Amino acid sequence: MIESSGILSAANESKHLFLRAAAGVATERPPVWLMRQAGRILPQYRALRSRFPDFKAFVKTPEASAEATIQPVDELGVDAAIIFSDILVVPEAMGLDYEMIEAKGPRFPKVIENQGDVSALLSGEAAAIQLSYVYEALKITKRELADRVPLIGFAGAPWTIFAYMIEGSGSKTFSKARRMLYVEPHLSHTLLQKITDTTIAYLRGQVQAGADLLQLFDSWAGELPPAHYRAFAVPYLRQICEALPDVPKTIFAKGAWFALEDIADLPCQVIGLDWNITPEFAKQATGGKKVLQGNLDPCTLYADAATIKKETKKMLNAFGGHHIVNLGHGVYPDTPLDGVRVFVETVKE
Ligand code: CP3
Repeated sequence: MIESSGILSAANESKHLFLRAAAGVATERPPVWLMRQAGRILPQYRALRSRFPDFKAFVKTPEASAEATIQPVDELGVDAAIIFSDILVVPEAMGLDYEMIEAKGPRFPKVIENQGDVSALLSGEAAAIQLSYVYEALKITKRELADRVPLIGFAGAPWTIFAYMIEGSGSKTFSKARRMLYVEPHLSHTLLQKITDTTIAYLRGQVQAGADLLQLFDSWAGELPPAHYRAFAVPYLRQICEALPDVPKTIFAKGAWFALEDIADLPCQVIGLDWNITPEFAKQATGGKKVLQGNLDPCTLYADAATIKKETKKMLNAFGGHHIVNLGHGVYPDTPLDGVRVFVETVKE
């Protein structure tokens, strides 16, 4: 199942369920964690967050980032930690500043419109070097976790970062970013390559600082037609996977059920699934080549405990015990903590 024998032999010796499962090794129970677990669902996070004037100041304080990373391990008993940061630190390091607007989300005051804008961006190591605060946060987290659970590093996938750089925020249609692929395909590839070079340098830095597994978030994958996903997203995901052979990698391409077969051919170990995909469909499309992660509808966690238990067990059975348990997208900020606990405990009981 696994392409890299180095990853497999390291996993075999690992005491961690999460790393063994990610390498396709059988585990006594599936590991569980939640995308966006380091965040507003926890009162401890909200208390820590209130000490900072804004999100960016928080993200750039390594000690605070380490604390937010470890909070869900202490509070929820999850089997992995994910470094507290954001996918938008990459465009910022390339020279495109963003603001995080309270209760609304990110906004880029300036967006990429033409060749001159793309040429002006930093890329590769010259950009990644500015992300030393993330490396520092990983090092502190690693030390403070003391090998209790593995540490996940992450980045946005090139297409998703491209979309933010063109749109300047989230969007209902992503028509500006999608238009660019038709109108300026060459410029689009130049920008995607710059993002990819930066992401590779950045993820290398994360591994050197202690990340045990890397996840790529392609949050806007489902906005593209299949042919464009194949032309403008998959080749860059491939470059990233190939450049980082020594750690397991997870690709979470939200909405990209149509690209599962292509993603299953990439040199990654794990595929994250959103809640629109049945486990049966995913197993068939990926042909048993990858470990699957996901995919409970995050809204299940608003239900009563019995329903959460029933739905979680249904999902566990459908994946047949060999998978990494997660939601189909990040946990929503107003999710009741008790619901999250029932989810985690159902997997662990
Ligand atoms: O998973 C984790 O717990 C680690 C931390 C993490 C954050 N963002 C912290 C955060 C991770 C992995 C991300 C990834 C991220 N950021 C994605 C990909 C995953 C996905 O949800 O599809 C995207 C698209 C972003 C961009 C982003 N950052 C948005 C759209 C927003 C605002 C809306 C929202 O979800 O909160 C953010 C802000 C953000 N990133 C917060 C946190 C904890 C909330 C800010 C706050 O505390 O005020």
